[in-house]
Amino acid sequence: MSSISIRGVRKAFKGHEALKAIDLEVRDQEFCVLLGPSGCGKTTLMRIVAGLETETEGEVLIGGRSMKGLAPRHRNIAMVFQNYAVFPHMTIGENIGFGLRMRKTPPAQLQEQVRRAAALMHIEPLLERYAGQLSGGQRQRVAVARALAVQPDVLLMDEPLSNLDALLRLEMRSELKGLLRELGTTTIYVTHDQTEALGMADRIAVMHGGRIVQFDVPEQVYRMPATRFVGSFIGNPPMNFIANPEAQAALGCEPRAGLILGIRPEDLRPVPEGGLVLQARVVEMLGASQQLTARVGDDLLRVSLPALPAITTGQTLRLLAAPGAARWYDPEGNLCP
Ligand SMILES: Nc1ncnc2c1ncn2[C@@H]1O[C@H](COP(=O)(O)OP(=O)(O)OP(=O)(O)O)[C@@H](O)[C@H]1O
Ligand SMILES: [Mg+2]
Repeated sequence: MSSISIRGVRKAFKGHEALKAIDLEVRDQEFCVLLGPSGCGKTTLMRIVAGLETETEGEVLIGGRSMKGLAPRHRNIAMVFQNYAVFPHMTIGENIGFGLRMRKTPPAQLQEQVRRAAALMHIEPLLERYAGQLSGGQRQRVAVARALAVQPDVLLMDEPLSNLDALLRLEMRSELKGLLRELGTTTIYVTHDQTEALGMADRIAVMHGGRIVQFDVPEQVYRMPATRFVGSFIGNPPMNFIANPEAQAALGCEPRAGLILGIRPEDLRPVPEGGLVLQARVVEMLGASQQLTARVGDDLLRVSLPALPAITTGQTLRLLAAPGAARWYDPEGNLCP
């Protein structure tokens, strides 16, 4: 059992509060994604779980056991850092086998685990090369392979694919997730890429300003953003927010006093008559879909439509909200039931 419990964890750096009372329960074998903008505290939280940083308050339990005062090497955790340190004077094979040598793994088993980890990350042909000669993306894959090779109970990964090109990243993403599921490794995976989070996570913890603002399955985080921040941060283009009651009513959403309407761009549908009348300002063709923007008073409205029929700039549109798609937010930005 390697659940991870983070209970009331706070972290202050010389007056700056990086984490404010974090509570997070990651289940045994779960793939949990920490998602949030730069500076929200993701790395700090990972370093506390790994034991590389000490919490100011609260505690971390792994498998129900308190980690208070326990050194990183006694936590059976492997971590891939954001800046993926590899040892330049060692070969790739030696780098990947590093943790296994530390654990005094027998040579034959070590070779096999190194080979499997390297194969998974598509760097098997590079095993004899020195790490100093590698590109950033290759080095990053070495760092991931090194963490996988020790088959830890808990794997912490901080933006492990950020230096790979788009295609490789997509491929690694699904392979990595498949493998970790197979191995039953409990994982916390940090990213600020919302597509990666939606695609990989069993559950997503969305962080903002040192807090977790929502922790749920991807569908729920996307469909029911707990705050306006979540609605804006997840989804591309982001959720629309409309304050104007007349515009809300024209979209077919009964206005609610003092509340702001939140609606996803793909939940706005063209209708032949009625609806909110507006003019397409910028139209972007994206292949399978087209995105357009329009002004509604002071609000900018983003709409995603199928590629056909093609909309032209300046064209008049009538839009209605899809049934059940309206979300309502109070002035503080919190979702109202
Ligand atoms: N050792 C430190 N001393 C002082 N402040 C720190 C230290 N480490 C982090 N911080 C501050 O804590 C906040 C959170 O930093 P953290 O590195 O956890 O963010 P992050 O979410 O990982 O961001 P990014 O996506 O850019 O990696 C930031 O404001 C950062 O400046
Ligand atoms: Mg970070």
